[in-house]
Parts: sequence; structure tokens; C-alpha cells
Amino acid sequence: MADQYAQSHEGGGRIRTPSIRWGEPPEGPAVVLLDQTRLPSEEAELACKDVPALVRAIRSLAVRGAPLLGITGAYGVALAAVRGEDVDEAAEAIATARPTAVNLGRGVRRAHAAYRAAGGAGQAEAAAAALAEAKALHAEDAEASRRMAGHGLALLDELLPGNRHRLLTHCNTGALVSGGEGTALAVAIAAHRAGRLRRLWVDETRPLLQGARLTAYEAARHGMPYTLLVDNAAGSLFAAGEVDAVVIGADRIAADGSVANKVGSYPLAVLARYHHVPFLVVAPVTTVDPDTPDGASIEVEQRAGQEVTEFMAPRVRGVGGVSESRSVAPAGTQAYNPAFDVTPPELVTAIVTEYGAVSPVTTDGLVELCARSRQV
Ligand code: MRU
Repeated sequence: MADQYAQSHEGGGRIRTPSIRWGEPPEGPAVVLLDQTRLPSEEAELACKDVPALVRAIRSLAVRGAPLLGITGAYGVALAAVRGEDVDEAAEAIATARPTAVNLGRGVRRAHAAYRAAGGAGQAEAAAAALAEAKALHAEDAEASRRMAGHGLALLDELLPGNRHRLLTHCNTGALVSGGEGTALAVAIAAHRAGRLRRLWVDETRPLLQGARLTAYEAARHGMPYTLLVDNAAGSLFAAGEVDAVVIGADRIAADGSVANKVGSYPLAVLARYHHVPFLVVAPVTTVDPDTPDGASIEVEQRAGQEVTEFMAPRVRGVGGVSESRSVAPAGTQAYNPAFDVTPPELVTAIVTEYGAVSPVTTDGLVELCARSRQV
């Protein structure tokens, strides 16, 4: 059945515009983002020249995805420092712009610590230290992405019979969330390059369509064999035996191995278990949060009901963009709109990081992984 749904794709390689970069004067100082709310129609940049603009970009999902939010947070601190603003206040505003992805606060704290450590040398030096830290995190994330892809593909090859994988993914986990090629999507890209990707099934990812707008865009650019489906079609796809493995990312992994990721991930894990299909979570070690003990302790972001009751609500049509949203529910309808859900560790076959995989997913396994990452 899969090949009957083969998607024509345009190829053309990587996305041309970096998902994030530092803008020097005269364009800056600015954190320059690829405005993801405008994809797939156009690759347009959004220059955030102050912290409130950056916070708006984070909240509106112009920039999104856990690893990239970490990098954004670090650049945001550098921006405040370079502009001579109150860096403590800026750090707090950026770190709390969205609650679930642990990387955001981590990136902020890392640049903030560098700023404070260099403070004795003067304001300009401290700002330069924060910027250098943000650039270092950016580069490290690119390297982590490359290594996750290698570990993830090796694990797929080990777990799956045959060597032509049909992978199902959810939300967007590619170059648009990373300094490199991403997390779960980087694994699929590696499989594609190795000639081992038979099909990438892409969940559209309601309500903000990160799968349709972003993952399909990336897959097309890479010339991957991909097929888009509405989230609710995943069940019938499993039932038809068309999915060999699920590969997704994570926004926060609690100490017990519970995984918060885009809403809709947990039902996929349940389906995968029922159908005896491996469920792989691919994330950098910076997404593991030993300070969050379990899934129930993860704060799940609740977003505006309008994102559900209107199709492509204004806030996802571009930060300053035109609004042509359409109501899909009667006026006054209340909506339940959690941005994430939590998958318990027992449903996760493996967590793949740049330091290797943890399988089975246990607290001890994660502790050991984090210790290994600190030794390198
Ligand atoms: O609300 P978003 O688009 O920021 O959600 C992003 C996700 O859920 C991704 O799957 C997650 O950040 C993993 S990317 C490594």
C-alpha cells in the first residue's frame, strides 16, 4: 500500500535560510529567525531586535522546537546584554515564554552564567561572553544532531528486519528545530541518504500543522519519499502493517523517562505498543531533565482555544502577518488545546541521544547517560 501513496518531491537539499542566526550591525544587533509561521509559503526572516520581540516570536511559534528554543534563549540573553538592558529581567522573560521545553530555560541559564562570570571584566566583555556561549551552544547542537542521526539509524537497523524502513513521525524535528539537521527527522534523513528509507509517514499535527507545514517542507527539500496523513489516520496505517517504527522528538524527558512531546505523541506510543512497533524518541541530552521527577510533574503548555476553533488562527499566520483564519466551530465554542502530552517510559522502546541510546528506558539508564555526557 505504501508505494501507492508515493509523494512527488522537489528535492533541492537543505532549507536555504538558517533557522536562527546572530545579526550584526547594521542589521542588528538582532536574533534573526526563519519565521516558521510563514512556511511553507515562503522562507522569510524575522529580525528580533529586542527581548519583547523575541518573546513574541517564541510564543507565536515563529521559532519553536526544543533544541532551537535553547539556542534562541541563549542568543536572547546575549541580545539583552549587547543592548545594555537588564539581563536578569530579560533572562526571566525569555525563559518563561513557553513552559514545557526544558531546553529554553537551559539555554538562557547557560548564556546568563557566562555573562555573570565575565561581569568583572566590564559590560562589553560580559556581553561578548554571553554571545560566545550562545554561538557555542548553537555549534554543539549541530554536532549533537549529527551524532543522534548516526545512533538512531544504527538502532533502527538493529531493531528492524530488512533494510527499507517505513517510519512514522509527528510534529517537526528537523533543521527547523536545531543548529543541525534535527533530532528524529535527522534519523530519517540519515536513513534516506543510506538508501534505507522506504517511506516517511508525516502526521499533519493538528492544530498548528507542524507536520504538514514544516516536516513535509523539509522532507520535500531532501527529496525523501514521504506521505502526509491526518493524525487520526495513523491507527489504520498501523493496522495495515505499514509502519515499521515511530520516530519522534521530545520537549522534556523527566528523570523517570516520561517523555513530553507534541500532543498526539502518546496515542502513537499506545498504537505502537499494540502493534508491536518500536517507538523511538530522539533528543539531545539537554532535553533530559533530572529535576523533573516524573511525567505528572511536567508542566504542559495550554494554548489558546482559538487555535482549534479557527483554522490557521491569526497568531500562526505570521507574527505581523495577514490574518485569514476561518472558524471551524460555532462562535463561543470552548476548546481543549494542550500543546504537548506525556508518554510513560514503559511505552518508549528507546531514547536516542548524541551519547547513545537508553533502552529499556529507566531512571538508572538516564542517570548513567547524563553522567557519560558530563565526562566527555
Ligand atoms: O510546539 P512546538 O512546535 O514547539 O513543539 C515542538 C515539538 O513538540 C517537537 O516534537 C519537539 O520540540 C522535539 S524537536 C526535537
